[in-house]
Amino acid sequence: MKTLGQFIIEKQADFPFAKGELSRLLRDIAIAAKVVNREVNKAGLADLLGACGDMNIQGEVQQKLDVYADVQFTSALQRGGECCYLASEEHELGIDLSHDVVSKNAKYMVCIDPLDGSSNIDVNVSVGTIFSIYRRANNEPVSMADELLQQGRKQVAAGYIIYGSSTMLVYTTGNGVNGFTLDPSIGEFCLSHPNMRIPESGQIYSINEGNYIKFPQAVKNYIKYCQIEDSASKRPYTSRYIGSMVADIHRNLIRGGVFIYPETLSFPTGKLRLMYECNPMAFIVEQAGGKATTGSERILDIQPTELHQRVPVVIGSKLMVEQVEYFYSMEL
Ligand code: AHG
Ligand code: MN
Ligand code: MN
Ligand code: MN
Repeated sequence: MKTLGQFIIEKQADFPFAKGELSRLLRDIAIAAKVVNREVNKAGLADLLGACGDMNIQGEVQQKLDVYADVQFTSALQRGGECCYLASEEHELGIDLSHDVVSKNAKYMVCIDPLDGSSNIDVNVSVGTIFSIYRRANNEPVSMADELLQQGRKQVAAGYIIYGSSTMLVYTTGNGVNGFTLDPSIGEFCLSHPNMRIPESGQIYSINEGNYIKFPQAVKNYIKYCQIEDSASKRPYTSRYIGSMVADIHRNLIRGGVFIYPETLSFPTGKLRLMYECNPMAFIVEQAGGKATTGSERILDIQPTELHQRVPVVIGSKLMVEQVEYFYSMEL
């Protein structure tokens, strides 16, 4: 059994010039993940269910666990000293850590969704954390906020934690995707899913069909395509929608499938956030052999314009994403 720490050190050896900063940054994230996992697992007993009464910049009512997770990841990154700038779903502006004595030479910037799938907390359904890591573009005195807004293809690393029937940490540094399962008996994430690859196609489509009447025609047509059965080979697909992006995409990563959150009348540019949901998940899925687009544009090529911008997302098995793109192209 190989722990996350051993794996990171082993991989670090592949980069002779690496001085261990990224390894320590991933370690800091894993520490916070274990703390959040402990509270998620007993949320009902730790007075961590329900809303905390505040509204975040997204216009969402913050859940107690949103705030708790945000505090844990922020303080772990602040203490770790490897992150110079941190942007979180739960804060309007990023946090400049470069003035802290421990972080003054830090060269990595982190975007994080501390608790993904908040609507599922109180009903004991899987939730997650999503993180995205960039290197400081340069040390010019440009504002950190501007420096962070790099295209997703410039990510140095990305990953997620899924607090589910088991707790897993899945991440990539651009050389494939590896999954680690938390062994509570030793408090370590252990390698359980080496070199994860998403099936090229699948039978699962994940979309909130409650929004059907607000979908673009291309998506309506794709949903009908998923449901048809023709004599030759097309069987109806299975619809699976958990409502936590991490859980829906993790399932598709393993089983094959496509997750779609398109533009709708309520969210004309899509609901999911580019910097700390779509970019990191796109990096991971592409590294596992899948695809991630807006329906026409590659997610990782989008030039961000602001921290909390939202984009439509079609992500998962390569052939299924291309099928959705086909329906979009027919509407041009
Ligand atoms: P978050 O809890 O971080 O705000 O993210 C929730 C997101 C994502 O996890 C999920 O796929 C999507 O919201 C579900 O949205 P709907 O409830 O509108 O389907
Ligand atoms: Mn939220
Ligand atoms: Mn989220
Ligand atoms: Mn969130």
